[in-house]
Amino acid sequence: MRLSLRFVIPLLLVLTAFAWGSMPLVDALMQRWFVRDLEIRSTLIANTAEEPLAELISTRSTTRINAYFNRLIQDERLYAVGLCLPGRLDAIATFTFPSEIRCAQLKLPLGADERQLQTAHGPLHLGVREVTAADATKNLLVLVHDMSFVERRSEETRRYVFMFFVAMGTIVALMTVAIAQLSWRGWVQGLRALLRGEGILRPAGSATPELRPIERDLRELIRDLERQYRPLDGSQRLWTQDLLRATLHGELRGHDVIVVSNREPFIHVRTPDGIRVQNPASGLVTALEPVMRACSGTWIAHGSGSADRETVDANDRVDVPPEKPAYRLRRVWLTADEEKGYYSGFANEGIWPLCHNAHVRPTFRSSDFEHYRTVNRRFADAVVAESRTDDPIVLVQDYHFALLPRMIRDRLPKATVITFWHIPWPNPEAFAICPWRRELLDGLLGSSILGFHTQFHCNNFLDTVDRLLESRVDREDFTVTLRGQCTQVHRYPISIEWPPASLARIADVASCRRKVREQLGLPPRQRLGVGIDRLDYTKGIIERFNAVGRLLEVEPRWIGKFTFVQIAAPTRGMIDDYRDYAVRVKALADEINARYPDAKAPPIILLAEHHEPDAVYEYHRAADVCFVSSLHDGMNLVAKEFVAARDDEQGVLVLSHFAGASRELPEALVVNPYDADECAAALHRALSMPPAEQTSRMRIMRGIVREFNVYRWAGRMLLDAAVMRERSPFGATGTAQGKF
Ligand code: F6P
Repeated sequence: MRLSLRFVIPLLLVLTAFAWGSMPLVDALMQRWFVRDLEIRSTLIANTAEEPLAELISTRSTTRINAYFNRLIQDERLYAVGLCLPGRLDAIATFTFPSEIRCAQLKLPLGADERQLQTAHGPLHLGVREVTAADATKNLLVLVHDMSFVERRSEETRRYVFMFFVAMGTIVALMTVAIAQLSWRGWVQGLRALLRGEGILRPAGSATPELRPIERDLRELIRDLERQYRPLDGSQRLWTQDLLRATLHGELRGHDVIVVSNREPFIHVRTPDGIRVQNPASGLVTALEPVMRACSGTWIAHGSGSADRETVDANDRVDVPPEKPAYRLRRVWLTADEEKGYYSGFANEGIWPLCHNAHVRPTFRSSDFEHYRTVNRRFADAVVAESRTDDPIVLVQDYHFALLPRMIRDRLPKATVITFWHIPWPNPEAFAICPWRRELLDGLLGSSILGFHTQFHCNNFLDTVDRLLESRVDREDFTVTLRGQCTQVHRYPISIEWPPASLARIADVASCRRKVREQLGLPPRQRLGVGIDRLDYTKGIIERFNAVGRLLEVEPRWIGKFTFVQIAAPTRGMIDDYRDYAVRVKALADEINARYPDAKAPPIILLAEHHEPDAVYEYHRAADVCFVSSLHDGMNLVAKEFVAARDDEQGVLVLSHFAGASRELPEALVVNPYDADECAAALHRALSMPPAEQTSRMRIMRGIVREFNVYRWAGRMLLDAAVMRERSPFGATGTAQGKF
């Protein structure tokens, strides 16, 4: 309001002054118009009066002429009329005729200054016209008009003009104030949104045009402040998809982000009903997929689906997710022999059992390793083909690509290669049995950053390098320098997206409980345990079933009242150890069920088939207990998914001590899966746990998973990469320069 007054009052004053200043102009204009009118009028009267006057003059009757003139001045504006006859000094005139006018002084035409007289009566206008009498003598008719009405009219006009300016000024001022208020409000709102970060988190240039310069300055300022004040590892941030996106757009703006993994995030399969899209059962995919949605980069993976070739373009690319494309999937094709040697052979019969302490012997064949090398090279070709710059950020995933970081480094020396090893890293003695141990280590040390889930695995890696390679291992910085190139080795515990996308699509806990029990043919109040895994010997499914069997022996009250449902996604079916394992798991489930032929519900239900993420979340929500009994596991995301699914803060997690997740979730009931008695006791405790205790344990675990989510996992790695890239011009990282 005050602002408006501050604007309106000066505007009104200016307009008033302007109106006032323009008055002389208005007067002059009026004067000119009226004088012209009077001239015309005089001519008109003279023309009209000429004929009767000519006759009257010929009568020489002053009285009749006067009478005629007196009739003429009935007109209110015609003040006086006079007639100058040749040779006469005084005019024959009405009594109003001003004495100042003398016939002897009149001559035609009149000058402009002679047409107006100032008399005691007021301003008068003088019009003189020639009138020819019947005897052809020339006489002068003098018409005197009263001009005081001009004064009155001018006065009125002045008033109107003044009022007009004031009214117009007021309207203009009010309109200007209203428009200014609206624009100001919009501007302030936009500015506030920018300051709240809404505009900043959207892509640059999304603010309204007027605010764009401010938006640009703010982004620059925030970037500078962040650079100065952020903890370099990003540990103080609450990571969200938006923050990850903003970090990428801010810290790594314009950089290529390329992910490489064996497993693809979307598999196109041919079914009798046409082509269907499947989400693979893979912790790696669960974690990386939401990250890629935020990054909008390129994901290079093996195209393994039966309809994969039909769904790519000429460059083997397809935009995904199919329902709302956000990034590009580039498929790499393998022959059946290559897949057998690289994937089933070297990766899953060699490295997988080598790195997992699950008492399955690794098998190493040189032909498998040759395929492994060939396939790694093919993926290196794809990375080079997909990068738009010579310094992309490449996120290499897992044990399928131990040779790839070095191959990328050789071909794109300026690339930032972040390799994440999703499985455990064994101790040096265990690793040393691999015939190609040095090649694998050399390949991995082509990375700029090498990540593991736990500090224990980082330590094992450094010990292994120290034992097997001629290199410099720095245990203070956790770096390895090989042939002048430096690799940072860090712990980045992987996680899941928060909140999980599935939760928005599925029903509440009560409905899920009802639905799942109906699907399984169980009574509505049946207590339910769940296990969700790939059918992999490292997952401890046999140990889990043994624990359920032991529970029913030790606590028979649960017979018929408790059922354990195991979802086991078929996996790596070309490998004997996996096929044998699947048979043993099925046999054990049957054997335990057969122990209780009279039970109202079976102790174990085995569903050995793939389940999509939404269905998995429904099982998590329906369960009283989730049992994760891995014999050895890098992290295990099923444990975190169970916690994320329980927004009712109920349910108990029984978790293997040998899964990386147990380091982050000590509020679970942590067990040794090899100890059936301990696991049975934990299951009994879980089934008997009061709701309040369930709530307090679940609440803490949910807080941890929410904060340590997958955006943080990716964000911290990418921030480390950003710092590395920022410092590399000074030789601080990537090479051994600057280190001593
Ligand atoms: O545990 C390592 C891992 O790559 C996981 O990230 C993933 O869940 C699993 O193996 C996938 O296995 P595969 O791709 O062979 O089915």
